Amino acid sequence: MDGWRTGQPWQGLRLNISYTFPVTTTARPTDLRINGARLMDRLMSLAEIGAIDGGGCARLALTDADRDGRDLVVSWMRDLGLEVTVDTVGNVVGTWSVGGGGAVMTGSHIDTVRTGGKYDGNLGVLAGLEIIQTVQESGWMPPRPLAVTFFTNEEGARYAPDMMGSLAYVGGIGVEEVLGTIGIDGSRVGDELLRIGYAGTTPCPAPAPHAFVELHIEQGPVLEKEGATIGAVTGVQGISWREVTIEGQSNHAGTTPMSMRHDPAYAASLIAVFLRDLARRYGGNQVCTVGKIDLHPNLVNVVPARAVLTLDVRNTDEGLLRRAESEITERLDALAAEEGVTITSRQLARFEPVEFGESMVTLVEATASDHGLSSMRLPSGAGHDAQMLARICPSGMVFVPSHNGISHNPAEHTDTADIVAGCDVLLQMMITLTTQETP
Ligand code: GLV
Ligand code: MN
Ligand code: MN
Repeated sequence: MDGWRTGQPWQGLRLNISYTFPVTTTARPTDLRINGARLMDRLMSLAEIGAIDGGGCARLALTDADRDGRDLVVSWMRDLGLEVTVDTVGNVVGTWSVGGGGAVMTGSHIDTVRTGGKYDGNLGVLAGLEIIQTVQESGWMPPRPLAVTFFTNEEGARYAPDMMGSLAYVGGIGVEEVLGTIGIDGSRVGDELLRIGYAGTTPCPAPAPHAFVELHIEQGPVLEKEGATIGAVTGVQGISWREVTIEGQSNHAGTTPMSMRHDPAYAASLIAVFLRDLARRYGGNQVCTVGKIDLHPNLVNVVPARAVLTLDVRNTDEGLLRRAESEITERLDALAAEEGVTITSRQLARFEPVEFGESMVTLVEATASDHGLSSMRLPSGAGHDAQMLARICPSGMVFVPSHNGISHNPAEHTDTADIVAGCDVLLQMMITLTTQETP
């Protein structure tokens, strides 16, 4: 493999590199801090690519904007002298190949939803760059490689499932299946990877890193509400995505008596109401969302012929998630009979809840405490690449607060002080992990 463990460490080094070659020291540094201004500069520069009104980003996976974002991050990887590999599903890994053995890896994604913010995913990737640069400049040589990655199509907004690249990275989906996936706009992953220049040759799945740890904004309200700076993420809730197609009888909106209608729009609305009610009945961590409804022909005076809608159903408890899924299936069958419509559905994504290892959760807490930062344990409501990496290596996540719990929205915001605190915690965790034989 031309991958990140065996290649030449300084391959791709640019001439304008601005730091001096590190001098080896043995003691593990405990007082290193990242350069917050440099991290924020990179975050704001990346946010200019695909910028949208309100301060957010639209970089759907494998679009031109995603390519431009990738190119920028890769150029930064090369500036740091990292060995850059692109695998067969477009995952990009930048490795500082010091020391020996498996890398301590961090990273996330830089694709966004169509109305994304500046921080979701991007923070985790650029934090990794900042950490590697900080360690390089410190003069301390880690005993094993440090790697930063961005995975293809984490969001799943253009191509399902979400976490597609990291799922392939750990062998959870075949490369051919990924490349053949058709998106919401009819495009094919394999064609788009070729078009944007990220159909790489490094084999996927890849060898397991020594450990993987991801910094991410919380994307929910809990840390802010509890006044904690650092989230020690205990795991990620299960996710069930389904696309439902309802076929009815298209007809004239003025002449068709209400009793004679077979209306897919009405049936779609009843499904949305049923999901809200299901979440209310289950309580706890149950959440349900109808995020997309397409009507055909989508005209003011026509009873639609067809509705296509998506259901996003999540719970931290696999048993409850299964129960919710079967209730929904029963309701769809009953609704088809009641309304005289045909309802079919297909699974777009299905991931069981994931729990991160106790030692990794404890390491987040202990590192936050060493830094004088408040922390709390919490599960993640959003899906993350770290949940896939947890299948092959010790993995964990560090959360920082999201202002008003808003995300997947241009208004997404995290205070700079919290971003820097989270990145410092990640830095120290990665240093510690390089020195642990068994994380
Ligand atoms: C990814 O952002 C997801 O949780 O949908
Ligand atoms: Mn994300
Ligand atoms: Mn997201």
